[in-house]
Amino acid sequence: MRPIVLAGSTDAFARKVYEAVGDDMRDRLRLWNRHLAEPGGLEALLETQPAVAILGPGLVDAVSLRFAQQIDTERAEVGVVVVQNAGANVDAALAAGVRAILSPDSDSDSIKAAIERAAAAADRSDRDTQIPKPSVGRAKVTTVLSPKGGAGKTVLSTNLAVGLASVAPRGVVIVDLDLQFGDVAYALGLKPRHTMYDVVAATGSLDITTLKVFLTHHSSDLYVMCAPDEPARGELIEVEAVQQIITLLAADFDHVIVDTAAGLSEHTLATLDLSTDVIFLADMDVPSVRHLSKVIKAFDRLGMGNADRHFILNRADARVGLSMMKVAAQAGLAVDIQVPVSKQVPVALNAGSPLILSHPKNPVTRKIWEIVERLAGPQVRETRQPLKWSA
Ligand SMILES: Nc1ncnc2c1ncn2[C@@H]1O[C@H](COP(=O)(O)OP(=O)(O)OP(=O)(O)O)[C@@H](O)[C@H]1O
Ligand SMILES: [Mg+2]
Repeated sequence: MRPIVLAGSTDAFARKVYEAVGDDMRDRLRLWNRHLAEPGGLEALLETQPAVAILGPGLVDAVSLRFAQQIDTERAEVGVVVVQNAGANVDAALAAGVRAILSPDSDSDSIKAAIERAAAAADRSDRDTQIPKPSVGRAKVTTVLSPKGGAGKTVLSTNLAVGLASVAPRGVVIVDLDLQFGDVAYALGLKPRHTMYDVVAATGSLDITTLKVFLTHHSSDLYVMCAPDEPARGELIEVEAVQQIITLLAADFDHVIVDTAAGLSEHTLATLDLSTDVIFLADMDVPSVRHLSKVIKAFDRLGMGNADRHFILNRADARVGLSMMKVAAQAGLAVDIQVPVSKQVPVALNAGSPLILSHPKNPVTRKIWEIVERLAGPQVRETRQPLKWSA
């Protein structure tokens, strides 16, 4: 297997990396002491054919992003992990094709997870240049994301999950990955007894039986992994815990829907690695669509091209719909579904009664069924159960 090379490191960080990784990774670890900035420095590093290049805290943040960009352009098969001294600029790092971001103070679990993730992607592409669709279990894992907040992710993901639950009763789980301000429980009118915080606070090894104890049941026969009820508790949830939770759920359910916080957090990026489908949601404004196109281009560079992509414009109306389609086309995006505006959407959200249940004839509901069909197949129309809802 190709080596994992740590360049531009301080002694202290190198020791942390060495102690953080497991035995098999440690065998592959190489410390690179030559200066990358000297003529031919980066080329010499790349001649070692690394699977992962870790650009350490000894490099100035902007310089390590420049090297990351260069590696991405010249050798896309190398997974790059950067250590940023002044905090993560996720957008800039994504644009530079970075696989994971660490800080000099990252703890050993985060260091281990970042390196393993970058190595797993590189090893996978070595094993098979024709990379198969990611499959973590039998489920479809669908992540809903938008670069900007308030685009309608929670409305869409909760209604979608309820719709899918009518096709696969007890086979659908929605995970609220907006760890600080998640409101999936609110949108579904639930008062959860347990949240994801309880999962990570539980002692002992985690298996699906234990995990199911922490799910909340919704009357549509949908299961919910609720976000912590306090932002401070959300901060305690590590990326690896989220990966473990989604992997376990995917092995047991037919559909895992993941609602995310705006933008691309480390947690969201890790989830995308496990996703079979990604729903990109943009609002009806030009910056929203342009921003999304940048994110999608970054995805391509990162090799996250295996999930099926669905591009949805929310709050589309006839007046600006066509011009937005043009903006999207210029940005290289083909709009799959346009969801209209409806006054009933905030009303249903505030009542905690998903629109698909409370307003079955609403035009937004009709579009949600289209999305359900995209994910579950056209046979949905015949197999779906009548939706139950009591006000
Ligand atoms: N198609 C629509 N028509 C009318 N209102 C909508 C529509 N979609 C979403 N909204 C409203 O927009 C607001 C934001 O929606 P939502 O909470 O789903 O966005 P979000 O992307 O999850 O936001 P955040 O990034 O804060 O999590 C809500 O008040 C919701 O009712
Ligand atoms: Mg939300």
